[in-house]
Amino acid sequence: MSRLVVVSNRVATPTETKGSAGGLAVGVFGALKDSGGVWFGWSGDVVSETVANQGPKLERDGAVTFATVGLPKKDYDQYYRGFSNAMLWPVFHYRNDLAVYDRDEYAGYRRVNAWLAHKLIKLLEPDDIIWVHDYHLIPFAEALRSAGIKNRIGFFLHIPFPSPQILLNIPPHEELVKSLCCYDVVGFQTERDRIAFHDYIVRHAHGTATPDGHIEAFGRTLKTSVYRIGVFPDEIAEQAERGEARQDVMDLKQSLEGRKLIMSVDRLDYSKGLVERFRAFEHFLEKSPEWRGNVTLVQIAPPTRADVETYQQIRQNLEYEAGRINGRYSGLDYTPIRYLNQRYDRWKLMSLFRESQVGLVTPLRDGMNLVAKEYIAAQNPDDPGVLVLSQFAGAADEMTGAMMVNPHDIVGTSEAIARALAMPLAERKQRYETNMIALRKHNLGVWRDDFLADLRGDAKA
Ligand code: G6P
Repeated sequence: MSRLVVVSNRVATPTETKGSAGGLAVGVFGALKDSGGVWFGWSGDVVSETVANQGPKLERDGAVTFATVGLPKKDYDQYYRGFSNAMLWPVFHYRNDLAVYDRDEYAGYRRVNAWLAHKLIKLLEPDDIIWVHDYHLIPFAEALRSAGIKNRIGFFLHIPFPSPQILLNIPPHEELVKSLCCYDVVGFQTERDRIAFHDYIVRHAHGTATPDGHIEAFGRTLKTSVYRIGVFPDEIAEQAERGEARQDVMDLKQSLEGRKLIMSVDRLDYSKGLVERFRAFEHFLEKSPEWRGNVTLVQIAPPTRADVETYQQIRQNLEYEAGRINGRYSGLDYTPIRYLNQRYDRWKLMSLFRESQVGLVTPLRDGMNLVAKEYIAAQNPDDPGVLVLSQFAGAADEMTGAMMVNPHDIVGTSEAIARALAMPLAERKQRYETNMIALRKHNLGVWRDDFLADLRGDAKA
């Protein structure tokens, strides 16, 4: 089997692949271990030009090499903070209103992609297959191709792909789509993302796209497909159950004093619908006086991309909303929203999910949302909690047992919270079972193996 080379903006550390990070890192590492290979990307550090030019730092773990490079400040600003996170991220999440375009940042984005590609070339072997991840690295294959690299290269987009009318807001939209066409396989989280891409190819790039994903455009031929990222449900269930007896989890349980628990966990990002969620919870308390003092929303939201202005704004908005709502409904011994800007270990989150009666996952737009899947997998099958899920999360296609909401509809979400808290055991079990069937069908291993089979060009059985 040919070696696998994974390229992503963030690279898990060798320790994280042993289970402390999200399942994705574990899943990707599993594939690397099987075939041997390299995981290449940014180290997460901002370094001097001299250090950046020294060549990748290499760490070995069995047959896998972790190769990381630091970025000089200017590159970090233009490639990561600027074009990736102040332009691509908002537009791909349908938030043109928050996007900031700067030509120099776009030039920096392309320059860093080419620079990273040249660093990787030195580590490549002729029959390696290369799997590139996410929006930071759209032009990566194009840079490799212009340096004469002929290997198979695939791309997986972890975030939504916007419909063409939204994408057109990015001035160099055509260059970006042309860059995507330099891959051999382009994977999306959901059918609606793939259709949006096909739509652009046909209407704006004079190309052709067949329903089964054969694309011809910009003088290239490629395949598109939908690969739904999942989790390993049994591993999560086991982690959640094991953590139940640990002190932190017992402490939380004790502090709730018999109150019901609603759990939410998100990066502190405007795409996650956090303000709308807090308002829906407020509306629920307003309309249901019997629940005041009897239910707590724990919102865990570790800050992210704190040097992008829109992230500073969402943080302020949320602090204001949490303070306002708590001021309105707290008692001397009761705080309705516990809002925590910290990162928690994965096992702890899974156990907290298991303790809770409701999981509130209400992004305004999300590629997939693995928290929704983790929430289900963590439940006690004999007494499962209820997932309240945004129809705009990719996970909504599969988690059909969830209570679906439109997160813009504050009253509708508030009513769903009320229904979820009062739901009889039989219905909870039935919804849980429906979701678990989907989780097992498209687990993380299936996602990874399907993508790699297509990239390797394996014939379908
Ligand atoms: C999303 C993106 C990932 C990214 C992660 C964390 O899930 O799809 O590519 O790594 O957010 O964001 P950060 O900017 O901290 O890497």
